Amino acid sequence: MYNSKITGLGYFVPENVVTNDDLAKIMDTNDEWIQERTGIKERRHVVKGTDTTTTMGVKAARIAIERAGIDKDDIDFIVFATLSPDYYFPGPGVLVQRDLGIKTVGALDVRNQCSGFIYALSVADQYIKSGMYKNVLVIGSELHSHGLDMTTRGRGVSVIFGDGAGAAVLSREEDNSKGVLSTHLHSEGQHAEELSLIAPGMGKRWVTDIIEDDDPNDESYFPYMNGQFVFKNAVVRFSEVIMEGLKTNGLTPEDIDMLVPHQANLRISQFIQKKFKLSDDQVYNNIMKYGNTTAASIPIALTEAWEKGKVKEGDLLVLAAFGSGFTWGSVIIKW
Ligand code: UT7
Repeated sequence: MYNSKITGLGYFVPENVVTNDDLAKIMDTNDEWIQERTGIKERRHVVKGTDTTTTMGVKAARIAIERAGIDKDDIDFIVFATLSPDYYFPGPGVLVQRDLGIKTVGALDVRNQCSGFIYALSVADQYIKSGMYKNVLVIGSELHSHGLDMTTRGRGVSVIFGDGAGAAVLSREEDNSKGVLSTHLHSEGQHAEELSLIAPGMGKRWVTDIIEDDDPNDESYFPYMNGQFVFKNAVVRFSEVIMEGLKTNGLTPEDIDMLVPHQANLRISQFIQKKFKLSDDQVYNNIMKYGNTTAASIPIALTEAWEKGKVKEGDLLVLAAFGSGFTWGSVIIKW
């Protein structure tokens, strides 16, 4: 049996920086509230007419492919995680295949929101472990800003999310002691609506009604989050799924060299850090600069951590996420 390892990483964020003060000009919010509750100082928003979820994903992917030292035609499969696709269908996986000019490989879209990149990595890992594919391109990309309620009504959600993309190339590794040791995925659909965007969806209205009554101010066209409920579940599930991953591999929290958590809220990361008695150097956070970029947050953070030399050969790396679904998961990697 083969193992899989990350051989290339890349990220892209739009240039346009939106500070908390910028948001305070268009809604009733303030820098103090946002920083105190979330740790966020600024985020990036795509300027309309420039990038899309796909084009940001492609930019991140090009860097990851180059760093993997392979040609685009060596990619055997694409997995694309997002909650903000360019089109209702088809998903962005095939658009990446087109934009990168890759031969007709399979392209799969993952709809697991904040846990999207963890789910996508898990899929890629299994394809490689089974021997079916040698190089899988995994992308997480989000264009949130065009779909947020940028009025005071939506402030509980819209100040948190930002745009960006991250990508990884997962490749076959013959040495089983290196690479992705295990992945762990969970869901609890009972809480589906606690963090959701209900429309457009065939469950809400018949298509003919949407055509006749489409109301862009309908709140169900904007994301909803029961913040405190999500927070309480997040801290429990993050802890559980990290422990599950460690135990599966006969490891303990003391073995962790670097934890890259999904960037949902700095307070959640700090809670986990304290719980596992990790130092500031053992947890990588960048939510301060980018906000919550959902499926893109882990690959952006991991790429930054790697670029800064914080993830080194032989390190025990833990990735973990929790979010809408609810879904959550972890990945344990020997770098
Ligand atoms: O990535 C997916 C997973 N997501 C998460 O894990 C997020 C988890 N939840 C959270 O991070 C936090 O719940 C939030 C940061 C979203 C909110 O923080 P909170 O401490 O739970 O605040 P809250 O929603 O209970 O709101 C407290 C107050 C309310 O006012 P009243 O009712 O006390 O008068 C809100 O209306 O803060 C008000 N508020 C704001 N004030 C200024 C809500 N949003 C804002 C805002 N600016 N942007």
